[in-house]
Parts: sequence; C-alpha cells; structure tokens
Amino acid sequence: MLRDRKIWIMMVLSVSMVSVLLLSCAQTKTYTEEELGLRHETLYDESSSSPVHGDPITKEAGASTRFERAFENSPPLIPHDITGMLPIARTENLCMGCHMPKEAVSIGATPIPKSHLTDFVTGKDLDGELAGIRYNCMQCHVIQTELTPAVKNIFKGGFRDDKGHYRSNLIDNLNEGVTAE
Ligand code: HEC
Ligand code: HEC
Repeated sequence: MLRDRKIWIMMVLSVSMVSVLLLSCAQTKTYTEEELGLRHETLYDESSSSPVHGDPITKEAGASTRFERAFENSPPLIPHDITGMLPIARTENLCMGCHMPKEAVSIGATPIPKSHLTDFVTGKDLDGELAGIRYNCMQCHVIQTELTPAVKNIFKGGFRDDKGHYRSNLIDNLNEGVTAE
C-alpha cells in the first residue's frame, strides 16, 4: 500500500517537472551572436571590427574652449591639441612651459594649482616648484575626443560650489573632516 502511494507521488512529480521544463523552453528567447555584444558583430570574428577612438580635438592651445569639470576637483580634461607636445621627457615638459603659474597668466592658460606645488607627503609648500609626482601630466589629464558612446553615461558629478564647475580648490578642502592632533 505504502509502495503504491510512493509510485503515485513520483509519477505526479515527474509529470509536473516535465511540464515546467517544456513551459520554460517555450518562453526562452534566443539571441544571435550579433545581438550579444555592444558592437553588434559576431563574437568569433574580429577582422572587421575596430575600436572606436573618436576624433581628437584639433583646436590649438589658446583657441580652444575649456570643458566643464566632471565632478568637484576632478582633473580637468585637456581641451586643446597636444600634437608635438609629447612625450614629456626628463629634460623637456612643454605643458609646464604654458601652465606654470608665472607663464600661464600671460598665455591665458589655467595655472597649475597649488595642490601640484605642494609635497603631499610632508605637506610642505614647495614655493612655486612643481612636486615631482605631478611631472607626468598625462598620467591624470587626458584629451577629450568626440564620439558616440556605446552605452550612455548617466553619471552626474556633484558640486558644492558653483565655481567648482570650472576651477579646482582641492588644496583648500583637502583636510576637510580630518582632525590632526
Ligand atoms: C602653448 C601653450 C600650451 C601648452 C604647451 C599646453 N597648454 Fe594646456 N592650455 C593652454 C591654454 C591657453 C588653455 C586654456 C584653453 C585654451 O585657450 O585653449 C589650456 C587648457 C588646458 C587644460 C584645461 C584647464 C581647465 O581649466 O579646464 C588642461 C588640463 C591642460 N591645458 C593641460 C595641458 C597639458 C597636460 C599639456 C601638455 C601635454 C598642455 N596643457 C600644454 C595652453 C597650453
Ligand atoms: C597625480 C595626478 C595629476 C598629475 C600628475 C597632474 N595633475 Fe593637474 N590636476 C589633478 C587633479 C586631481 C586636479 C583637480 C584638483 C586639484 O586642483 O588638485 C588637477 C587640476 C589641474 C588644473 C586646474 C587648476 C584649476 O585651478 O582649476 C590644471 C591647469 C592642471 N591640473 C594642470 C596640470 C599639469 C600641466 C600637469 C603636469 C605638469 C598636471 N596637472 C599634473 C591631477 C593631476
């Protein structure tokens, strides 16, 4: 008697499992290889796909328009052509030629900020000298290129002060919230 009941329960279970399986098969949407990736091409052949780098800015320094900062105290994007300015070498840094505070004013370039003229390890003001870790500008500042992103960027940077959209003030609020005894 008990055995019969067991068999019966097993049968009901297997029938329901099969129907769940059939139902889920019927609802599964399949995607082609071309639909899977962001570049809409087969994933097995890369011969016709090339990365999109966009068109670099061609406006010369002095004739370009500065970009709004991405968020408060973010490193500003380079808005001008940098052809011929690289590489930054030990003996030559053309960026400094225009952006060191003394030169920048007459050229109309944004002066290198105080944060770059301070030794962050010791906190020492370097009296107008550039801190060594800031020498390679391209490590943090990049040029802007025109392209249509594959995925829309919905990031919205925060600013506490309206001025922050076009200028930085990191050195003033670097220690915000820090109590050094
Ligand atoms: C010939 C002078 C000159 C040289 C060389 C130069 N810049 Fe500039 N830069 C400018 C000027 C002028 C501006 C302001 C925008 C304009 O008028 O084109 C500027 C703007 C910028 C900005 C945007 C600042 C802001 O407030 O948004 C950054 C970042 C920048 N330059 C980085 C660099 C880097 C990095 C290099 C070296 C690869 C460099 N620049 C070389 C003149 C120069
Ligand atoms: C380690 C990263 C780093 C390096 C290297 C660096 N910067 Fe910056 N830069 C930043 C950041 C972050 C900011 C914004 C916050 C601040 O002011 O420090 C900034 C801000 C600036 C600004 C805007 C100043 C303002 O008042 O709005 C200029 C101009 C600039 N940098 C030029 C340069 C140049 C030229 C070099 C190379 C000599 C350089 N930076 C190297 C990270 C860097």
